[in-house]
Amino acid sequence: MSIKKPIRRSRPNSSNRSRSSYARQRSNSVIIRRTRRHHYRRQQKKKLFTYIWVSSAILIFCIILAIIFIPAKENVLPVDAPQISSVLDTSSIEDSSVLQSSLISSIVDEEYQRAYETAAQIKLVNFDHPNYDDPDNLVSLDSLLSDAVTINSGANQLAEPAALALKEMFDAAEAEGITTYIVNSAYRDRATQQSFWDNRIAQDPSYGDDVYSNPVKTVPATASEHCTGLAVDILCDSVPHGTSDYKDTQEAKWLADNAYRFGFILRYPDEKQSITGVMFEPWHYRYVGKDAAADIYASGLCLEEYLASFGLPEKSSLS
Ligand code: DAL
Ligand code: ZN
Repeated sequence: MSIKKPIRRSRPNSSNRSRSSYARQRSNSVIIRRTRRHHYRRQQKKKLFTYIWVSSAILIFCIILAIIFIPAKENVLPVDAPQISSVLDTSSIEDSSVLQSSLISSIVDEEYQRAYETAAQIKLVNFDHPNYDDPDNLVSLDSLLSDAVTINSGANQLAEPAALALKEMFDAAEAEGITTYIVNSAYRDRATQQSFWDNRIAQDPSYGDDVYSNPVKTVPATASEHCTGLAVDILCDSVPHGTSDYKDTQEAKWLADNAYRFGFILRYPDEKQSITGVMFEPWHYRYVGKDAAADIYASGLCLEEYLASFGLPEKSSLS
């Protein structure tokens, strides 16, 4: 067991009093020192805060200036530096199918435009599109065509492009051994053509009243392609007149298969009579140029249908 010691209490006396005074003085001096130290620290803290605030403000100010005045990177490239578009092959980053389809559609557009412009040059002559012009570029066939071709009297002129194409065609036929063609009719002057029509009407006043229901063989000068110098009737030694058996001849078949290569079309096909208003004429060829002839041959359209597919002839050219 531990024994508790009694607590000793000191009694006040004179020496205790002087010690107490000294302690008070010392305590005061400590307080004063502490107060000064505290004041000094507060001053230091204040300075530090002020320094931080000023530094932050300057930093923020500099950042704002930098954002405003430092130019964008691409603008500081030297003038002769290669531009991005010339360095990168931008086509490689486009979707190739989109690129292809836009290329295809632009090619199709260009081809269509070319075909349209070609078609717009083709003069349509029929009952609804009368022609009042005379050709000014007729040339003689006599001196142009090979001796292998027979030229009927009064059938010796065509417009120059048609005449040159006809020579090319007959030369090609001759090279294949066909030497029996007859140029039965070519350019006809308006008076001659009109006399054909007038004589026909004199026989039958209702002739040509509704050509699309009852196609005709004879037409007035205004509706005849022969008056343009662009049409030619081609027959052969074995069938020298325009009769239906001509279509079965070797000569007629060769023309049907090859005339387009030289710019000619079979103008009045059997199955298009209700559109042309003219009876089937396997001998009547019309010069339209090689591009259009090839398109018409390939499409199976007659000239009226082909031009209509382009919205031609335009209304202004109808008169
Ligand atoms: N036989 C054709 C239609 C003409 O005379 O023009
Ligand atoms: Zn004809």
